[in-house]
Amino acid sequence: MLLLLLFSLLAATTGVAFAKDVTNFCKCSCGPNSAILELTPFGLSHLPHASQPIDVGTLMPNVCMNCTRLLCGIAEPQLCDGAAVDEEIVPLCFQRDSLQDELIVSAFLLLVVGLLVWTAVRAHVKPVVDRLLTQYGYNPVGHA
Ligand SMILES: *[C@@H]1O[C@H](CO)[C@@H](O)[C@H](O)[C@H]1NC(C)=O
Repeated sequence: MLLLLLFSLLAATTGVAFAKDVTNFCKCSCGPNSAILELTPFGLSHLPHASQPIDVGTLMPNVCMNCTRLLCGIAEPQLCDGAAVDEEIVPLCFQRDSLQDELIVSAFLLLVVGLLVWTAVRAHVKPVVDRLLTQYGYNPVGHA
């Protein structure tokens, strides 16, 4: 039982790992201020502060190449407000698994751990419950 669970855990995690699509993000910093842009066509066309529309059709295949000072400046025109005058925009590209994948993996792990705990608890609790029931005159198995 335990082995079977571990095996399915392994199989499922591997499957998820292959199906997983990573999302790139561009972190634009200027002194103490920073903003994170989601480097997806959807994210870049729904920027809340953009000074001009971003042509998502021109994104590079490696979208991190588009995480530039220029892009940060368009997406967050106010980024350097309040920062020291000599501060410059510093772009930084990073990756993160999409939230949806993380939710699926977490839900799955919870399920597996829950099953394991339940199995372990049941194995320990059932004899006790059975004994108590027998003791108080109820015999589910029927050899009284
Ligand atoms: C992405 O980068 C390419 C090459 O630098 C540039 O031509 C293009 O305009 C950029 N696209 C966006 C949306 O910033």
